[in-house]
Amino acid sequence: YPIFAQQAYENPREATGRIVCANCHLAKKPVEIEVPQSVLPDTVFEAVVKIPYDKQIKQVLANGKKGTLNVGAVLILPEGFELAPPDRIYPEIKEKIGDLYFQNYRPNQKNILIIGPVPGQKYSEIVFPILSPNPATNKAAHFLKYPIYVGGNRGRGQIYPDGSKSNNTVYNASATGKVSKIVRKEKGGYQITIDNPSDGRQVVDFVPPGPELLVSEGEFIKADQSLTNNPNVGGFGQENAEIVLQDPLRVQGLLLFLASVVLAQIFLVLKKKQFEKVQLVEMNF
Ligand code: HEM
Repeated sequence: YPIFAQQAYENPREATGRIVCANCHLAKKPVEIEVPQSVLPDTVFEAVVKIPYDKQIKQVLANGKKGTLNVGAVLILPEGFELAPPDRIYPEIKEKIGDLYFQNYRPNQKNILIIGPVPGQKYSEIVFPILSPNPATNKAAHFLKYPIYVGGNRGRGQIYPDGSKSNNTVYNASATGKVSKIVRKEKGGYQITIDNPSDGRQVVDFVPPGPELLVSEGEFIKADQSLTNNPNVGGFGQENAEIVLQDPLRVQGLLLFLASVVLAQIFLVLKKKQFEKVQLVEMNF
Protein backbone atom coordinates (compact mmCIF):
# COMPACT_ATOMS: atom_id res chain seq x y z
CA TYR A 1 0.00 0.00 0.00
CA PRO A 2 1.16 3.57 -0.55
CA ILE A 3 0.96 4.02 3.23
CA PHE A 4 3.71 1.39 3.62
CA ALA A 5 5.93 3.51 1.37
CA GLN A 6 5.07 6.69 3.29
CA GLN A 7 6.03 5.03 6.56
CA ALA A 8 9.24 3.46 5.34
CA TYR A 9 10.72 5.95 2.88
CA GLU A 10 11.31 9.69 3.20
CA ASN A 11 11.37 10.04 -0.58
CA PRO A 12 9.41 7.67 -2.83
CA ARG A 13 12.01 7.95 -5.60
CA GLU A 14 15.43 6.50 -4.84
CA ALA A 15 18.68 8.06 -6.09
CA THR A 16 18.78 5.40 -8.81
CA GLY A 17 15.41 6.58 -10.11
CA ARG A 18 13.62 3.50 -8.85
CA ILE A 19 10.28 4.14 -7.16
CA VAL A 20 10.11 2.40 -3.79
CA CYS A 21 6.86 0.46 -4.35
CA ALA A 22 9.03 -1.87 -6.46
CA ASN A 23 10.78 -3.04 -3.28
CA CYS A 24 7.68 -4.99 -2.21
CA HIS A 25 5.72 -5.29 -5.45
CA LEU A 26 8.24 -7.49 -7.17
CA ALA A 27 6.62 -8.26 -10.52
CA LYS A 28 6.97 -5.76 -13.34
CA LYS A 29 3.94 -4.65 -15.34
CA PRO A 30 3.56 -1.56 -17.53
CA VAL A 31 2.04 1.81 -16.63
CA GLU A 32 1.43 4.84 -18.82
CA ILE A 33 1.21 8.56 -18.17
CA GLU A 34 -0.30 11.30 -20.30
CA VAL A 35 0.27 14.99 -19.59
CA PRO A 36 0.04 18.06 -21.84
CA GLN A 37 3.27 18.94 -23.66
CA SER A 38 3.17 22.39 -22.04
CA VAL A 39 1.05 24.32 -19.54
CA LEU A 40 0.63 27.99 -18.72
CA PRO A 41 1.24 29.18 -15.14
CA ASP A 42 -1.53 28.91 -12.53
CA THR A 43 -3.56 26.56 -14.75
CA VAL A 44 -5.45 23.36 -13.93
CA PHE A 45 -4.68 20.38 -16.17
CA GLU A 46 -5.02 16.59 -15.99
CA ALA A 47 -2.34 13.96 -15.63
CA VAL A 48 -3.77 10.60 -16.70
CA VAL A 49 -2.18 7.47 -15.27
CA LYS A 50 -3.09 4.16 -16.89
CA ILE A 51 -2.59 0.89 -15.05
CA PRO A 52 -3.76 -1.71 -17.56
CA TYR A 53 -4.47 -5.35 -16.68
CA ASP A 54 -6.84 -8.13 -17.61
CA LYS A 55 -10.01 -7.41 -15.58
CA GLN A 56 -11.06 -11.07 -15.80
CA ILE A 57 -8.22 -12.38 -13.66
CA LYS A 58 -8.45 -12.87 -9.91
CA GLN A 59 -5.71 -12.77 -7.32
CA VAL A 60 -5.06 -14.51 -4.03
CA LEU A 61 -6.38 -12.46 -1.10
CA ALA A 62 -4.89 -12.36 2.38
CA ASN A 63 -7.29 -15.11 3.54
CA GLY A 64 -6.31 -17.39 0.65
CA LYS A 65 -9.54 -16.86 -1.29
CA LYS A 66 -9.63 -15.34 -4.76
CA GLY A 67 -10.72 -11.78 -5.44
CA THR A 68 -10.40 -8.78 -7.70
CA LEU A 69 -7.36 -6.52 -7.88
CA ASN A 70 -6.94 -3.02 -6.51
CA VAL A 71 -4.72 -0.33 -8.00
CA GLY A 72 -2.65 2.50 -6.58
CA ALA A 73 -0.19 5.08 -7.79
CA VAL A 74 2.35 7.69 -6.79
CA LEU A 75 2.87 10.80 -8.93
CA ILE A 76 6.04 12.85 -8.46
CA LEU A 77 5.55 16.31 -9.90
CA PRO A 78 8.09 19.12 -10.28
CA GLU A 79 8.52 21.47 -7.32
CA GLY A 80 5.64 23.95 -7.15
CA PHE A 81 3.09 21.77 -8.95
CA GLU A 82 0.31 20.47 -6.69
CA LEU A 83 -3.14 18.92 -6.48
CA ALA A 84 -5.71 21.39 -7.89
CA PRO A 85 -8.01 22.80 -5.19
CA PRO A 86 -11.59 21.46 -5.59
CA ASP A 87 -13.08 24.86 -6.50
CA ARG A 88 -10.75 25.18 -9.48
CA ILE A 89 -11.40 21.76 -11.04
CA TYR A 90 -13.61 21.96 -14.13
CA PRO A 91 -16.75 19.81 -14.09
CA GLU A 92 -15.45 17.72 -17.05
CA ILE A 93 -12.36 16.76 -15.06
CA LYS A 94 -14.39 16.25 -11.88
CA GLU A 95 -16.51 13.69 -13.67
CA LYS A 96 -13.44 11.73 -14.74
CA ILE A 97 -11.96 11.79 -11.25
CA GLY A 98 -15.00 10.12 -9.70
CA ASP A 99 -14.79 9.47 -5.97
CA LEU A 100 -11.02 9.37 -5.85
CA TYR A 101 -9.31 10.99 -2.91
CA PHE A 102 -5.70 12.01 -3.50
CA GLN A 103 -3.21 12.62 -0.72
CA ASN A 104 0.18 14.27 -0.38
CA TYR A 105 3.04 11.88 0.25
CA ARG A 106 4.19 14.19 3.06
CA PRO A 107 2.13 17.10 4.46
CA ASN A 108 4.91 19.50 3.42
CA GLN A 109 5.57 17.88 0.02
CA LYS A 110 2.62 19.00 -2.03
CA ASN A 111 4.24 17.98 -5.32
CA ILE A 112 4.15 14.24 -4.52
CA LEU A 113 0.68 12.69 -4.70
CA ILE A 114 -0.54 9.22 -3.85
CA ILE A 115 -3.74 7.31 -4.40
CA GLY A 116 -4.90 3.83 -3.52
CA PRO A 117 -5.78 1.20 -2.95
CA VAL A 118 -8.88 1.72 -5.11
CA PRO A 119 -10.84 -0.88 -7.13
CA GLY A 120 -9.02 -1.63 -10.36
CA GLN A 121 -12.20 -2.52 -12.23
CA LYS A 122 -13.24 1.13 -12.07
CA TYR A 123 -9.96 2.99 -11.76
CA SER A 124 -7.42 1.32 -14.00
CA GLU A 125 -7.23 4.82 -15.50
CA ILE A 126 -6.71 7.52 -12.86
CA VAL A 127 -7.07 11.24 -13.60
CA PHE A 128 -5.02 13.52 -11.32
CA PRO A 129 -6.15 17.18 -11.36
CA ILE A 130 -2.98 19.31 -11.18
CA LEU A 131 -2.41 23.02 -10.69
CA SER A 132 0.71 24.52 -12.26
CA PRO A 133 2.71 27.09 -10.26
CA ASN A 134 2.97 30.76 -11.10
CA PRO A 135 6.59 31.98 -11.25
CA ALA A 136 5.34 35.54 -10.67
CA THR A 137 4.23 34.64 -7.15
CA ASN A 138 6.20 31.46 -6.48
CA LYS A 139 9.93 32.10 -6.61
CA ALA A 140 10.71 28.36 -6.66
CA ALA A 141 8.99 27.97 -10.03
CA HIS A 142 10.64 28.82 -13.33
CA PHE A 143 9.61 28.69 -16.97
CA LEU A 144 11.42 25.46 -17.78
CA LYS A 145 10.97 21.89 -18.98
CA TYR A 146 10.46 19.49 -16.09
CA PRO A 147 10.33 15.71 -15.62
CA ILE A 148 7.31 13.98 -14.06
CA TYR A 149 7.63 10.48 -12.58
CA VAL A 150 4.86 7.99 -11.95
CA GLY A 151 4.68 4.59 -10.29
CA GLY A 152 1.55 2.49 -10.63
CA ASN A 153 0.54 -0.84 -9.24
CA ARG A 154 -2.16 -3.45 -9.55
CA GLY A 155 -2.46 -6.34 -7.13
CA ARG A 156 -1.05 -7.21 -3.75
CA GLY A 157 2.58 -6.94 -2.73
CA GLN A 158 4.94 -9.81 -1.94
CA ILE A 159 6.65 -8.42 1.18
CA TYR A 160 5.24 -6.70 4.28
CA PRO A 161 7.03 -3.73 5.88
CA ASP A 162 8.39 -6.06 8.61
CA GLY A 163 10.14 -8.10 5.90
CA SER A 164 7.81 -11.11 6.07
CA LYS A 165 6.39 -12.64 2.91
CA SER A 166 2.78 -12.16 1.95
CA ASN A 167 0.78 -15.15 0.72
CA ASN A 168 0.92 -13.64 -2.78
CA THR A 169 4.35 -15.01 -3.63
CA VAL A 170 6.26 -18.24 -4.19
CA TYR A 171 7.41 -20.35 -1.20
CA ASN A 172 10.67 -22.31 -1.36
CA ALA A 173 12.08 -25.30 0.49
CA SER A 174 14.47 -24.35 3.27
CA ALA A 175 16.38 -27.64 3.07
CA THR A 176 17.31 -30.49 0.73
CA GLY A 177 15.66 -33.84 1.44
CA LYS A 178 12.61 -36.00 1.17
CA VAL A 179 9.14 -34.61 1.72
CA SER A 180 8.05 -36.96 4.48
CA LYS A 181 4.76 -35.37 5.43
CA ILE A 182 2.35 -32.74 4.15
CA VAL A 183 -0.37 -31.59 6.52
CA ARG A 184 -3.18 -29.48 5.18
CA LYS A 185 -4.21 -27.05 7.85
CA GLU A 186 -7.77 -26.39 8.84
CA LYS A 187 -7.81 -22.79 7.72
CA GLY A 188 -5.91 -23.62 4.52
CA GLY A 189 -2.18 -23.66 3.95
CA TYR A 190 0.28 -26.48 4.47
CA GLN A 191 2.88 -27.72 6.88
CA ILE A 192 5.59 -29.56 4.96
CA THR A 193 8.11 -31.78 6.73
CA ILE A 194 11.40 -32.37 4.92
CA ASP A 195 13.75 -35.15 6.13
CA ASN A 196 17.40 -34.63 5.35
CA PRO A 197 18.82 -38.09 4.69
CA SER A 198 22.48 -37.09 5.20
CA ASP A 199 22.24 -35.74 8.76
CA GLY A 200 18.84 -37.12 9.75
CA ARG A 201 17.48 -33.69 10.62
CA GLN A 202 13.93 -32.61 10.00
CA VAL A 203 12.77 -29.19 8.85
CA VAL A 204 9.21 -27.96 8.74
CA ASP A 205 8.21 -25.36 6.15
CA PHE A 206 4.93 -23.51 6.32
CA VAL A 207 2.94 -22.38 3.31
CA PRO A 208 0.07 -19.97 4.02
CA PRO A 209 -3.33 -20.30 2.32
CA GLY A 210 -3.08 -19.03 -1.24
CA PRO A 211 -0.21 -20.44 -3.30
CA GLU A 212 -0.75 -23.88 -4.85
CA LEU A 213 1.46 -26.73 -3.73
CA LEU A 214 3.77 -28.23 -6.39
CA VAL A 215 5.38 -31.02 -4.33
CA SER A 216 3.91 -34.21 -2.95
CA GLU A 217 4.79 -36.64 -0.17
CA GLY A 218 7.74 -38.91 -0.91
CA GLU A 219 9.31 -36.50 -3.37
CA PHE A 220 13.00 -35.50 -3.13
CA ILE A 221 13.58 -31.78 -3.25
CA LYS A 222 16.54 -29.42 -3.18
CA ALA A 223 16.98 -26.41 -0.90
CA ASP A 224 15.40 -23.30 -2.47
CA GLN A 225 13.33 -25.38 -4.87
CA SER A 226 9.85 -23.90 -5.11
CA LEU A 227 7.25 -25.69 -3.03
CA THR A 228 4.45 -23.66 -4.60
CA ASN A 229 3.52 -21.84 -7.77
CA ASN A 230 3.77 -18.07 -7.92
CA PRO A 231 0.19 -16.87 -7.45
CA ASN A 232 1.01 -13.21 -8.17
CA VAL A 233 -0.90 -11.85 -11.15
CA GLY A 234 -0.29 -8.17 -10.43
CA GLY A 235 2.73 -5.97 -10.80
CA PHE A 236 4.29 -2.56 -10.51
CA GLY A 237 5.62 -0.26 -13.20
CA GLN A 238 7.09 3.19 -13.49
CA GLU A 239 7.25 5.73 -16.28
CA ASN A 240 8.19 9.36 -16.81
CA ALA A 241 7.00 12.27 -18.89
CA GLU A 242 8.08 15.84 -19.56
CA ILE A 243 6.16 19.06 -19.22
CA VAL A 244 7.05 22.64 -20.13
CA LEU A 245 5.91 25.45 -17.85
CA GLN A 246 5.26 27.97 -20.61
CA ASP A 247 5.57 31.75 -20.23
CA PRO A 248 2.51 33.35 -21.93
CA LEU A 249 4.74 36.29 -22.94
CA ARG A 250 6.92 33.87 -24.87
CA VAL A 251 3.90 32.58 -26.82
CA GLN A 252 2.71 36.14 -27.48
CA GLY A 253 6.21 37.10 -28.61
CA LEU A 254 6.31 34.17 -30.99
CA LEU A 255 2.91 35.13 -32.44
CA LEU A 256 4.05 38.72 -32.93
CA PHE A 257 7.22 37.58 -34.65
CA LEU A 258 5.28 35.23 -36.96
CA ALA A 259 2.84 38.05 -37.80
CA SER A 260 5.75 40.34 -38.63
CA VAL A 261 7.27 37.69 -40.91
CA VAL A 262 3.97 37.29 -42.76
CA LEU A 263 3.61 41.06 -43.15
CA ALA A 264 7.19 41.43 -44.38
CA GLN A 265 6.58 38.74 -47.00
CA ILE A 266 3.40 40.46 -48.20
CA PHE A 267 5.15 43.80 -48.45
CA LEU A 268 7.98 42.25 -50.43
CA VAL A 269 5.48 40.86 -52.93
CA LEU A 270 3.71 44.22 -53.17
CA LYS A 271 7.04 45.97 -53.69
CA LYS A 272 7.88 43.52 -56.48
CA LYS A 273 4.52 44.16 -58.18
CA GLN A 274 5.14 47.91 -57.95
CA PHE A 275 8.59 47.54 -59.44
CA GLU A 276 7.22 45.43 -62.29
CA LYS A 277 4.81 48.26 -63.14
CA VAL A 278 7.69 50.72 -63.28
CA GLN A 279 9.61 48.32 -65.53
CA LEU A 280 6.59 48.09 -67.87
CA VAL A 281 6.35 51.88 -68.17
CA GLU A 282 10.08 52.23 -68.87
CA MET A 283 9.99 49.61 -71.60
CA ASN A 284 10.21 51.14 -75.12
CA PHE A 285 9.83 49.02 -78.21
C1 HEM B 1 -1.02 -4.01 -1.36
C2 HEM B 1 0.04 -0.09 -4.02
C3 HEM B 1 4.25 0.32 -1.68
C4 HEM B 1 3.54 -4.04 0.30
C5 HEM B 1 -1.11 -2.92 -2.22
C6 HEM B 1 -2.29 -2.58 -2.97
C7 HEM B 1 -1.99 -1.50 -3.74
C8 HEM B 1 -0.63 -1.14 -3.44
C9 HEM B 1 -2.90 -0.79 -4.74
C10 HEM B 1 -3.61 -3.33 -2.93
C11 HEM B 1 -3.61 -4.39 -3.99
C12 HEM B 1 -4.86 -5.21 -4.00
O1 HEM B 1 -5.56 -5.27 -2.99
O2 HEM B 1 -5.14 -5.79 -5.06
C13 HEM B 1 1.29 0.36 -3.62
C14 HEM B 1 1.94 1.56 -4.13
C15 HEM B 1 3.10 1.69 -3.43
C16 HEM B 1 3.19 0.55 -2.54
C17 HEM B 1 1.39 2.48 -5.22
C18 HEM B 1 4.13 2.80 -3.53
C19 HEM B 1 3.76 4.09 -3.45
C20 HEM B 1 4.42 -0.82 -0.93
C21 HEM B 1 5.56 -1.08 -0.10
C22 HEM B 1 5.36 -2.31 0.47
C23 HEM B 1 4.08 -2.81 -0.03
C24 HEM B 1 6.76 -0.14 0.07
C25 HEM B 1 6.24 -3.06 1.43
C26 HEM B 1 6.87 -2.46 2.45
C27 HEM B 1 2.25 -4.40 0.01
C28 HEM B 1 1.64 -5.62 0.50
C29 HEM B 1 0.31 -5.61 0.03
C30 HEM B 1 0.15 -4.38 -0.74
C31 HEM B 1 2.30 -6.69 1.35
C32 HEM B 1 -0.75 -6.67 0.30
C33 HEM B 1 -1.41 -6.36 1.60
C34 HEM B 1 -2.47 -7.38 1.95
O3 HEM B 1 -3.39 -7.57 1.18
O4 HEM B 1 -2.32 -8.01 3.00
N1 HEM B 1 -0.12 -2.03 -2.51
N2 HEM B 1 2.08 -0.24 -2.68
N3 HEM B 1 3.54 -1.88 -0.86
N4 HEM B 1 1.34 -3.69 -0.73
FE1 HEM B 1 1.72 -2.00 -1.72
